[in-house]
Amino acid sequence: MANEKKVALITGANKGLGLEMARQLGQAGLTVVVGARDPQKGEAAAEALRKQGIDARFLKLDVTNRHDHAAAARFVEQNFGRLDILINNAGIALDGFNSGAPSTTTDEVIQQTFDTNFFAPVALTRTLLPLLKKSEAARIVNMSSILGSLTLHSDPSSPIYDFKHLSYDTSKAALNLFTIQLAYELKDTKIKVNSAHPGWVKTDMGTNAAPMEIPEGGKTGVFLALLGEDGPTGGFFHLGKRVPW
Ligand SMILES: NC(=O)c1ccc[n+]([C@@H]2O[C@H](COP(=O)([O-])OP(=O)(O)OC[C@H]3O[C@@H](n4cnc5c(N)ncnc54)[C@H](OP(=O)(O)O)[C@@H]3O)[C@@H](O)[C@H]2O)c1
Repeated sequence: MANEKKVALITGANKGLGLEMARQLGQAGLTVVVGARDPQKGEAAAEALRKQGIDARFLKLDVTNRHDHAAAARFVEQNFGRLDILINNAGIALDGFNSGAPSTTTDEVIQQTFDTNFFAPVALTRTLLPLLKKSEAARIVNMSSILGSLTLHSDPSSPIYDFKHLSYDTSKAALNLFTIQLAYELKDTKIKVNSAHPGWVKTDMGTNAAPMEIPEGGKTGVFLALLGEDGPTGGFFHLGKRVPW
């Protein structure tokens, strides 16, 4: 069944930046699908958005569960017939935010981090791509991080030089290369694919030490989700400015 409004699916949307981007997109008049692994938290988030007048639907989606990916495709197909925006937002940071020693990072931590931050968005995007191709001009946003920047990690004068978290940082660097390569694959279509650095934001992941408030943190992803026809693809952005790879 066709949906008049644009439809956006946001993963990890029960709290933090995912919920905020759902709120901002909903306020812009889109239908938002609130992906969350915990049905209670996800339904509560969708209900809170509906109370703000937003057309929000909950979808049970653990991004590490391939059955949930298939169910997500069925849900979108049956309810909307297409997908206009996919925000791969769900993410984890297991290294801790002290300055890391990469040689001490365990295989388990690297594997678990990549399962959520890299393998999951790649697989979910693959599963949803046929529905994104049915949109007039789909947008894919990969929530990355400045901590995935090879350029900044290797520059002693950069603000992140002393912040090394091997598993998180490499997972976001890998996600960035997925952005570049998927944008290349889709360059002759109307689909745009970009990476977002939201800022260091006061969420559970960012902690209260972060300087940026959540509404501001939601802006970069929303901007990339709503890019016009003349907008970029295959880029890495923070508040409208390019971040070095
Ligand atoms: N906050 C920052 O300063 C910052 C900076 C740069 C980049 N980012 C990126 O922005 C994104 C959102 O971060 P945030 O700050 O909003 O973090 P957050 O408050 O910790 O929220 C993370 C979200 O991801 C969900 N999630 C984790 N694993 C999942 C899984 N397997 N399946 C489905 N959902 C899952 C969480 O669900 P549960 O509630 O069930 O755990 C939660 O909804 C992440 O990709 C992060 O790396 C954040």
